[in-house]
Amino acid sequence: MSAYFNGVVVRSAGERPAVAELRLPEIGPGQVRVRIKAAGVCHSDLSMVNGTIRAPYPLVLGHEAAGEVVEVGEHVTRVAVGDHAVLNWQPPCRECWFCAHGEPWLCSTSSGVAALENGVTLDGAPVHVSLGLGAFADEVVAPANAVIGVPAELPFEQAALLGCGVLTGTGAVRNTARVAAGESVVVIGLGGVGLSVVAAARAAGASDVIAVDVSEAKKGLAEAAGATDFVVSSDALSKEIRVRTAGRGADHAIECVGRSATIRAAWRATRRGGKVTVVGMGSNDDLVQLSALDIFSSSRTLRSSVYGAADFDTEIPRLAADVLGGTLAIDHLISDRIGLPDVPEAFDRMSRGEGARSVVLL
Ligand code: APR
Ligand code: ZN
Repeated sequence: MSAYFNGVVVRSAGERPAVAELRLPEIGPGQVRVRIKAAGVCHSDLSMVNGTIRAPYPLVLGHEAAGEVVEVGEHVTRVAVGDHAVLNWQPPCRECWFCAHGEPWLCSTSSGVAALENGVTLDGAPVHVSLGLGAFADEVVAPANAVIGVPAELPFEQAALLGCGVLTGTGAVRNTARVAAGESVVVIGLGGVGLSVVAAARAAGASDVIAVDVSEAKKGLAEAAGATDFVVSSDALSKEIRVRTAGRGADHAIECVGRSATIRAAWRATRRGGKVTVVGMGSNDDLVQLSALDIFSSSRTLRSSVYGAADFDTEIPRLAADVLGGTLAIDHLISDRIGLPDVPEAFDRMSRGEGARSVVLL
């Protein structure tokens, strides 16, 4: 039977989101119904509220989530009722060229940014669910390939973070930048994603992890995550970085904001031949200006890292094992535990650069 449940909905760009009563469809073959237990507030949600990322409305927000499987459709064998699971907002088809070539995070069936409809209704009309999930809600219906089981000992609030911020941050370091022992790394933007990058860079053996944010309040969080230096972002950033890197610039800069200004700052923070990794998801209208001569003569590499450039199905169980085994600490990423009605205030805190992750507990 379909049932009513609550979800956080934004009705148009710029409008304040609010809890609304939604109706969930009955599940079909290949689908899974998950009772959400925890969902992290990621900047991409805020970007869909303020219009930085263009999305269709009305839209149920939330995509960094974990919960318990409560119903499985026909042909579903990956998970069973009662399993604890993390949700994937970019489930790979396993059939397209990218999946067949070992890059499932670039799967051509996943749009990545746009929201999809999945039969959920609001006031009797279909409503969009962000990134195919809409996880600031009591329940979601998702395709089975978007659901991966994790050990029941893993707290839901930590499992949720694995599903976006932690996978994105650790994957950027391990899979895209491939930070090696002894290298120097500048991390720009210290939200849930950037702090995960800091911790992963340190774990990879980086000698210097220089954490950068506009908000001075991030210093303590950066140090707790393993940063060796903290610098408040300013126009003099590249000079500050050079002072700390023997005048050369860093081996790596990892951008976790999603703006042209910070991508340029990351570029300028690296040495000749250095690597710039863009993790932040910016706007289509925000152009990055780099000089053609600088691109040539600096010999830097500029790459993005989408969803940690990781295979979700193998990486999530590995990250869960790391957390349970004590080799990956993510508890410090959670600064606020909130309810569904508190999501708008979590966006306000995020806009002011306060705290690390707010996690909705259900
Ligand atoms: N220079 C340095 N830091 C900045 C700047 C700037 N110009 N502008 C913003 N910041 C900082 C904020 O103060 C904040 O600490 O960037 C951080 C961003 O953190 P969150 O808002 O918590 O964002 P997060 O969820 O970590 O996501 C970061 O990754 O997945 C993408 O869409 C997401 O683009 C976003 C990015
Ligand atoms: Zn996210």
